[in-house]
Amino acid sequence: MNYYTKETNFYGNLSPEKLIERYGSPLYVYNESILRERCKELTSFVSYPDFKVNYSCKANSNLSLLKIIHQEGLHADAISPGEVHVLLKAGFKPKEILYISNNISKEEMEYVIAHGILLSVDSLSQLEQYGRLNPGGNIAIRLNPGFGIGHHKNVITAGENTKFGIGLENIPHIKQIAKKFNLKIMGLNQHLGSLFMKGDIFIEGANLLLKVADSFPHLDFVDIGGGFGIPYQKQDNEPRLELIEFGNKLSEMLTKWAQDYGKNVKVMIEPGRYIVAECGVLLGSVHNIKQNHSTRYIGTDLGFNVLARPMLYDSHHDIEIYKNPPSCKFDPHEKVTVVGNICESGDIIAKERLLPKVDEGDIIGIMDAGAYGYSMSSNYNNRLRPAEILIDLEGKDRLIRRRETLEDLMNCFN
Ligand code: LLP
Repeated sequence: MNYYTKETNFYGNLSPEKLIERYGSPLYVYNESILRERCKELTSFVSYPDFKVNYSCKANSNLSLLKIIHQEGLHADAISPGEVHVLLKAGFKPKEILYISNNISKEEMEYVIAHGILLSVDSLSQLEQYGRLNPGGNIAIRLNPGFGIGHHKNVITAGENTKFGIGLENIPHIKQIAKKFNLKIMGLNQHLGSLFMKGDIFIEGANLLLKVADSFPHLDFVDIGGGFGIPYQKQDNEPRLELIEFGNKLSEMLTKWAQDYGKNVKVMIEPGRYIVAECGVLLGSVHNIKQNHSTRYIGTDLGFNVLARPMLYDSHHDIEIYKNPPSCKFDPHEKVTVVGNICESGDIIAKERLLPKVDEGDIIGIMDAGAYGYSMSSNYNNRLRPAEILIDLEGKDRLIRRRETLEDLMNCFN
């Protein structure tokens, strides 16, 4: 079994055992140098001059991580007032945020307008509502190009079976409504879905959007979406998304399009997962081991309230076992099912996984947990959300969000 954390020197001079001892279990651990590396990869993989990376902060909106991402020169997309709130606190300027809305109220629209943030609408009716609220204003439009991509049906966000975007057949209506309220269409955006591992499919989608953009002569930007995948099965040598060739092809297409369009147009992408997934490991503790019929269960404190992806999408995360104490020897592998402490039988992190023999007291590391981990965590079963810590560039650990307390559960009551 290859250990990603060894290859990347993830913990540096620290160790999972020490971190759990210090901050408790479960624990989200982030590595700053990996985070910065991923930011740099995406800000530089395209040579088209007016290219911008908007970080999609639904993947992880920890304030300290957002500050680092902003320092690396990324802008952001937001989908809720809550996301806007933390982005502004992290130092993002209103002009650096694109609000990609879906089914929002009049009040939410007013919130976005009042903060001077550009809104993208994804229905004709919401465009009308915006026109009534802010006649003469600037707006962006989220289109649905007719096909989508994604690692699971629930995360395909374009095509026929999704609530998102305005179909291309509605373009004349978009223009009519914009004219009626004297709105300036600043940009077009799309998001095909979450997680592709081959650039060609993304380029195909981008090409479609650029063709549509030709019929909007006064655009400031085109946002071709996120979805950049990471290899979740590193222990089985899953290859990475090949960025160099992908970037070259994309740059060539964008440069040619911009020449024909005849105006300098900013091109944006909106990745979430690629930026933060690999800088995060979720640590937990093994509390119980039992055999139920033919299944050997490894019982941990990593319920789906802490990491929902395996339960929601049947997602795979590589697992590392850290013997505790570390001097213990590894025994031969065995097939086990790793589960959490939530009161549902589907509370499974890994089904029938071959792992080094696990004992009670060992520590378990769930790899690539930085995206859609903490951000999708909950208080189900009245369990508390874990703490988050950062290993900084000097290799020092620092608390970046404290563990919840029982009192936090009472905060919303009168
Ligand atoms: N832009 C829009 C409009 C989106 O809806 C999303 C993700 C993104 C950008 C960023 O996508 P990414 O680059 O992270 O793939 N919870 C699921 C993923 C849901 C993605 C939702 N939208 C998961 O854990 O796999």
